[in-house]
Amino acid sequence: MNAAKKIIDLLYSDKGYADRIAPDIWPMAINKAQGMFLMQLINRYKPRTFVELGFRYGISSLWIQSASNKPRKHVIIDPYHHIPHPPKKSTIDDFIKQQKGVHFIENMTSQEYLATLSYKSEQADMVFIDASQWFDSVMTDMFFVTRILAVNGRVVLRNIWSRPVRRAVMYYLRNLPYSLDRVAPWREWIIKHVPVIGELLLRLTIRPLDLCVMRLMEKDSRQWNHFVPF
Ligand SMILES: C[S@@+](CC[C@H](N)C(=O)[O-])C[C@H]1O[C@@H](n2cnc3c(N)ncnc32)[C@H](O)[C@@H]1O
Repeated sequence: MNAAKKIIDLLYSDKGYADRIAPDIWPMAINKAQGMFLMQLINRYKPRTFVELGFRYGISSLWIQSASNKPRKHVIIDPYHHIPHPPKKSTIDDFIKQQKGVHFIENMTSQEYLATLSYKSEQADMVFIDASQWFDSVMTDMFFVTRILAVNGRVVLRNIWSRPVRRAVMYYLRNLPYSLDRVAPWREWIIKHVPVIGELLLRLTIRPLDLCVMRLMEKDSRQWNHFVPF
């Protein structure tokens, strides 16, 4: 078992261990089902470069690091992760920062840093968005993510229960070459119908996990005046 998975198992099995790091890890952090889902996605698609927005206590970062095909480069962006309360023990922060391939960005917001990545024409194979839930933040994160994501790359978004996040997802599904990529046998049906039936379907289909996976099918080549109501 890898070292990240050992810490995860301790966190979920020993409440005292988790509380000594921070008493409010959950529901702030992704739960076990979400973590397993994220780890399995990584094992399946084997992203070489992974960009993660929103660290807080680092639980999702641990899940990413626990994959057997862990990314060669793992960029984590969160300038506010110690605000308002830093963890009581820096066990996870220290562990994550020591991992090979981890680049921890603490001096810029996700929007600012993604913009710098887009100038460098860096590509990401997978992105996990769990940062600011404001509509304009998610729209801006997605604006830059679309510029750095490889074709066939995946974006995993958390907090689809939250209306501003869901609305931003709807905009991108309807207006850009993204498809909703979820578990078979519903997958084809969902991909075909979400843009038609809309938000209610999206809300119902992702409710059990609250994570939504989108695939970039091709590079964005819209006309200047393209707009589909969402
Ligand atoms: C729900 S927590 C992330 C939890 C983490 N993904 C986990 O599962 O362990 C959200 C984090 O997003 C960060 N955040 C908020 N706005 C941000 C921004 N503009 N850029 C980067 N991170 C941001 C906050 O500092 C907070 O730590």
